[in-house]
Amino acid sequence: MDQVGGTNTEATPSVPSEAEVAARVESLIGQMSLEEKIGQLAQIGGASFVPGPKPEDVIRKGGAGSVLWVNDTQKFNALQKIAVEESPSKIPLLFALDVIHGYRTIFPVPLAMASSWDPSVAERAQAVAAREARAAGLHWTFGPMLDIARDARWGRIVEGSGEDPFLGAAMAAAQVRGFQGPYLGAPEHVVACAKHFAGYGAADGGRDYDPVYLPEGRLRNVYFPPFEAAVKAGVGTFMSAYMDLNDVPASGNRFLLHDILRTEWGFKGFVVSDAFAVANLVIQGFARDGRDAAFRALSAGLDMDMASNTYLEHLAGLVEDGTLQMADIDAAVRPILAIKIRMGLFEQPYTDEAKLAEVLALPEHRKEARLAAQRSMVLLRNEGRLLPLAKSLKHMAVIGPLADSKEATEGSWMVFGHTPAAVTILEGIRAKLPDARVEYAPGPEIRRDIASWFESVMPSEVRKSPQTAEQAEAAFQTAVITAQSAELVVMVLGENADMAGEAASRASLDLPGRQEELLKAIVALGKPVVLVLLNGRPLSINWAAENVPAILEAWEPGTEGGHAVADILFGDVNPGGKLPVAFPRKGSHAPLYYARNLTHSPEGSPMYNPRYWDGLPMPLYPFGFGLSYTTFSIANLKVSTPQVKVGSSVAVTADVTNTGSVLGDEVVQLYIHQKAGSDSRPMRELKGFERLTLQPGERKTVNFQLGPAELGYWSTNAGKWVQDAEAFDIWVGADSLATLHTDLAVIR
Ligand code: NOJ
Repeated sequence: MDQVGGTNTEATPSVPSEAEVAARVESLIGQMSLEEKIGQLAQIGGASFVPGPKPEDVIRKGGAGSVLWVNDTQKFNALQKIAVEESPSKIPLLFALDVIHGYRTIFPVPLAMASSWDPSVAERAQAVAAREARAAGLHWTFGPMLDIARDARWGRIVEGSGEDPFLGAAMAAAQVRGFQGPYLGAPEHVVACAKHFAGYGAADGGRDYDPVYLPEGRLRNVYFPPFEAAVKAGVGTFMSAYMDLNDVPASGNRFLLHDILRTEWGFKGFVVSDAFAVANLVIQGFARDGRDAAFRALSAGLDMDMASNTYLEHLAGLVEDGTLQMADIDAAVRPILAIKIRMGLFEQPYTDEAKLAEVLALPEHRKEARLAAQRSMVLLRNEGRLLPLAKSLKHMAVIGPLADSKEATEGSWMVFGHTPAAVTILEGIRAKLPDARVEYAPGPEIRRDIASWFESVMPSEVRKSPQTAEQAEAAFQTAVITAQSAELVVMVLGENADMAGEAASRASLDLPGRQEELLKAIVALGKPVVLVLLNGRPLSINWAAENVPAILEAWEPGTEGGHAVADILFGDVNPGGKLPVAFPRKGSHAPLYYARNLTHSPEGSPMYNPRYWDGLPMPLYPFGFGLSYTTFSIANLKVSTPQVKVGSSVAVTADVTNTGSVLGDEVVQLYIHQKAGSDSRPMRELKGFERLTLQPGERKTVNFQLGPAELGYWSTNAGKWVQDAEAFDIWVGADSLATLHTDLAVIR
């Protein structure tokens, strides 16, 4: 099992060994009072919306080990000075913030980066985010978010890598490597935090924070793999989830925080609660009062209390009356001190304020963001090869409420205090065609029916007063008139940044507001129309899927998003992303995912299709789907041996050829199905993928390995991990409906 921070068990001049860190931790602990120790377990909120005493006063008294919700380098240094000069223990603070997809240079949202099916995209993005964040004085980010999400209504689907554990695990490890670098404490990197442990994405009804019921097999086979991958990649910290998991709050859940995380996976870092989650244990009907909440959270394995002050108020009393032992407190403090030591905070607690501007201006960061956005986009439709567009176009209309929105382009989960500065799609198109007439009309605005609480603490473009019905109608007509005289129309529709993310679940997956009505009116003009989607979740664009010839899923593509969209629309870049989540035809079909168990055969059984009598529940676009400006053939599927022994590995190969006339990328995907066994298994499961770039006519062979890790699973019947000696179907192809098939037998 890897140690926290990867493989640095040997001492080098700058990287302390495990033993050195442990010795320094013990020496510190030996000098600390109970109050000083408890202070290390408290993370305090530095924002004005957090009630309570001023952070400066709390820190001076030794009441904080970490600070969140501050994003100001000077303030970091000022607070740190109080900690290291005036607090009783003089232990430096860890500064933390949600840096989810970029600090100043904003990358595509994580769901988009997962659409690249290229973990190196996510790794490089998070390395840039880390460099900028660290230069600003942050040490710790609350990312990556690793919640599997199979319900597109759930707003936080935007923060994760989609519906699949195999893709999710690859993206998890890549993001941890990106944030933390080669080892914990590497220069220009931050500590990562795997969140939200665990099951948060399966909230009842897709309603944020609602309870989750997941049997152990489902947790272990589907929801845990990205988290375990993060531990293997050396992630320094974990965050517990808010909600009840099987009637036990995740933040007081010893099965999760102790048995699985520490005992089974050997995690050596520390666990922070989600914000106010320790205090919430009372509201959840779990703890009797704050004192009981502190006791039960700490006993479950939760080391740091985010923002609720429950540990500060109650832990000392619990130790004094013998309910908790000093050893319990020490066990929670140790990994926190170890991370501060590894991050070099004792040697260098301050941040060089002069360097920040230079780091934020590095041109290579923008280059990486543009590349990440290009690789994240998914071409959903291209009838009659409308795309790519000719650069000789003279007069275009760009229509839609998001076409010139910096906020929607950067997307949800902006860094606290950040002002959106993206290149919008309108700007990207104008930059690409400087001599063309590119006219713009937003059409009616879109907004949430119920405003988000976050709007009261974060600046937002959409907080201005709502349009009246008359203003909306006038905007609608102007949009149609603007489109009327153009040769071609690009419509930019989808969701505002505040429509996905935390506290941003929806019951419907339709285009919000009057967007579809506007799309219909503009398509009715009879001109070529390209639809670019900016959104943080799958949308049920059923009408568009049949009536708009070209559809590009751009997600929320970040600072360089407008340039990346223009690069793709005009053929400078050939799109190669694939969906990391299915697009349902209706919100009420959620949760919808490809890796389902079957009761009836999809081929031929009259009982398979009528699962709803008011429309087929098949996705509009399946998991793994995405088109290209070129075509590919995938053929010659082979297994290195038709029979493989339990515990051994088999190679699966296939040939991929670019059969079209331009350079392009294909994501080759391998799916398995176990035909019988200890338990019923899903009809398909992703167990391998590779994104390849091929010249026209070029052929490459992809090579996947299937071994016990891919062929085994956690069996409900057996109550343990098993690998059955059974027959398997294997498919390799371009999406989860791949038809190229072979057989494999696993034998004893
Ligand atoms: C609540 C969110 O659930 C979590 O993801 C985030 O990291 C914390 N707030 C801190 O902002």
